[in-house]
Amino acid sequence: MCGIVGYIGNRDAFPILIKGLQRLEYRGYDSAGVAMISPEGNLNVYKKKGKVSDLLDSCKDKDKSGNIGIGHTRWATHGEPNDVNSHPHYSQTKDLVIIHNGIIENYASIKEGLQKRGHTFLSETDTEVLIHLIEDIRKHEPEMKLGHAVMAALNQVNGAYAIVILDKNDRDTLIAAKKGSPMVIGVGKDEYFIASDASPIVEYTKNVVYIEDEHVAIIRRGEELKIRTIRDKEITPYVQELEMELEAIEKGGYDHFMLKEIYEQPRSIFDSMRGRLNSETGHLKMGGIEEHEGKFKNAKRIIVIACGTSWHAGMVAEYLFEEYARIPVEVEYASEFRYRNPIIYPDDIVIAISQSGETADTLAAIELAKTKGATIFGVCNVVGSSIARATHAGSYTHAGPEIGVASTKAFTAQVTVLTLMALHVAKVKGAIAESRYRQLLYEMESIPAKVEEVLKLNDSIKKIAAEYKDAANALYLGRGYSFPVALEGALKLKEISYIHAEGYPAAEMKHGPIALIDEAMPVFVIATKGPNYEKVVSNIQEVKARKGRIIAIVTAGDVEVKKMAEHVIEIPETDESLVPLVSVIPWQLLSYHIAVMRGCNVDQPRNLAKSVTVE
Ligand code: F6R
Repeated sequence: MCGIVGYIGNRDAFPILIKGLQRLEYRGYDSAGVAMISPEGNLNVYKKKGKVSDLLDSCKDKDKSGNIGIGHTRWATHGEPNDVNSHPHYSQTKDLVIIHNGIIENYASIKEGLQKRGHTFLSETDTEVLIHLIEDIRKHEPEMKLGHAVMAALNQVNGAYAIVILDKNDRDTLIAAKKGSPMVIGVGKDEYFIASDASPIVEYTKNVVYIEDEHVAIIRRGEELKIRTIRDKEITPYVQELEMELEAIEKGGYDHFMLKEIYEQPRSIFDSMRGRLNSETGHLKMGGIEEHEGKFKNAKRIIVIACGTSWHAGMVAEYLFEEYARIPVEVEYASEFRYRNPIIYPDDIVIAISQSGETADTLAAIELAKTKGATIFGVCNVVGSSIARATHAGSYTHAGPEIGVASTKAFTAQVTVLTLMALHVAKVKGAIAESRYRQLLYEMESIPAKVEEVLKLNDSIKKIAAEYKDAANALYLGRGYSFPVALEGALKLKEISYIHAEGYPAAEMKHGPIALIDEAMPVFVIATKGPNYEKVVSNIQEVKARKGRIIAIVTAGDVEVKKMAEHVIEIPETDESLVPLVSVIPWQLLSYHIAVMRGCNVDQPRNLAKSVTVE
């Protein structure tokens, strides 16, 4: 959560900071702020509750000059979203300013000590405490350089941080540090860019350094980048080339990132299979698994840990691994798992799924599983992310940057990779018949084209959206492989349109939720052809008998459900186990259109952030 940016070089810092913050706004948008040192040596700080556009309006006529500066977009943790709690925060003398992503857990005790020493605080934030502490350390050792004061302070704090500090009296230095929150530094010619991810940097330079935990970067104008640990050990910066194109992080003519990302799915699903699947030879190449083939082969159990949409992909994985590879799977919310004293055996395989690779709960669950000796396998989208680095092995999803806060293409890419993994393990174990294995590989290759077909239904899905946009509640039903898709459909609707929605296994409905059904209740059902079809048809009848309104996803050519439903959405036929990759698309489009029609901010829904780096 929270996006941070920084710049030092020869250009005007302000436009670079603002553009960077707009790129990072997906990380949080409760408030935004910037600080620059003008050529006259004034430290100008502007901050405002709301979006980056509100900040821009509020500082229209102000002095924004300077070629060194920092900026922040906030997802509030400590203190409500208001102007005062916005970053940057000042030190006691107002000589230093800081931006921070993360949480300082022991801030209250540090604050108490500082207050006893005469410090007064303007905001309710943990961040302000940190910058006061840094200044306090320097006050007692005036000869100490700012970088060393930062190191000393960071040795006293618990928690997570990605911080950048600006000193009014030194126009040539930025100090940055991180632990548990991401940070990347772009290395240009005589200039440096700092950001929470590479998206604000990619248009200026492709040379980047990913900062490691407990490292402090001392960034001085005209000098080489210096990195030290918080215990003052020198580190040689590892400059690597960024594999990201500017177009990947722009809207490319779409009204919203979410729509663009929905439409990218034929491509992103293809990309997540590219180089891995060859249906002609029957070969599947999953590097990470090959390294740990024996472990997968002998695993008595797989534990999946994830949050939100990634957890739904994990639910699909449960069905896949159990069906193809005959390995029992438990799917766990990372946030529950980490605090439950779970039973983990050294021969367990833990699969951690995360788009951002930064989700704090998932990361903590991984660390816990590691202490018990399990093998941890990551399925992440963001290359080089904390989770990707914390795992023993893994497979990237290669979906490209996902910027819309509601996850779409990341889900289908995760399910694609998990399907390939399950097939690979099934083959290695000899748990799947060769003919079925081959048939599934062929079928996987046809999925991008089938998703393309479903995207052509956009106009009719938009009409359905118009009819149900004012619903107060919605129910999503599915059985078997379609149950996780029901959960995902409900999550998509509630998070971007604020309509209350629940996903349920269709047969479970009669144990409670059926009481909710009346003529005002839209019930979104997946009733594709497969072993559960007749059962789902019965569930649809139960809804109809109570005057509920059925909107069903069916297999092309279906006649039975058509007779009962208000609307059917026909999707191309595929293997039962691959249906989630196709059937989730209409639910994504439906949520998108309903949210747009309700005037909601689709890409930045209220209270949410793309990357949840707090627990
Ligand atoms: C929903 C959504 C969230 C994320 C969840 C986990 O659309 O995006 O539920 O899926 O916060 O995030 P990652 O996958 O980055 O760990």
